[in-house]
Amino acid sequence: MAAKIDLPEDVTITPASLREALGSFPTGVAVVTTLGDEGKPLGLTINSFNSVSLDPALVLWSLALSSPSIGAFRKHGAFAINILRKDQGELCMKFARPADDKFKDIDWTKGYKGIPVLEGAMVTLECETYQIVEGGDHEVYMGAVKRIHKTDSAPLVFHRGQLVQLAS
Ligand SMILES: Cc1cc2nc3c(=O)[nH]c(=O)nc-3n(C[C@H](O)[C@H](O)[C@H](O)COP(=O)(O)O)c2cc1C
Repeated sequence: MAAKIDLPEDVTITPASLREALGSFPTGVAVVTTLGDEGKPLGLTINSFNSVSLDPALVLWSLALSSPSIGAFRKHGAFAINILRKDQGELCMKFARPADDKFKDIDWTKGYKGIPVLEGAMVTLECETYQIVEGGDHEVYMGAVKRIHKTDSAPLVFHRGQLVQLAS
């Protein structure tokens, strides 16, 4: 049995302590994409993706209010969740930094309402924006899943601030 660790009850919750605690929960990693003005493809790396409902088919993720893409996500009304394969760590980091040309040298096709579907993602869910909910320093986007593309590959995993792979 694992040793019990007693934590003081008065631990102050700071962004850093919360991030550290939440980092113990392993997640997949995805690049969420949409279209901006004049059809410009936009996207960022997320791990806040999760399921909401099977019938109707609903998913969610959250976007920092500071993101320069927030206007496009609010306006376009559709997004794609591109769940990354275990060997797409470089792509994950490329979309996790602010840049004007994140799609340079990236293969993608237009999906539902023109949203970018990344070639080679493990699974892509094309979604219509269903609801946007205020959530502190983020906005929570709920999406109705319209199309699914899937492959058999293994996922990239984020745990304790590191990109890792599942043991086979
Ligand atoms: C593994 C990982 C997960 C992330 N998850 C989120 C997330 O769920 N929501 C979010 O807004 N930013 C998240 N980020 C941070 C964004 O990817 C990063 O701030 C990026 O620069 C945002 O792109 P933008 O500046 O073009 O909006 C995550 C970063 C990493 C590395």
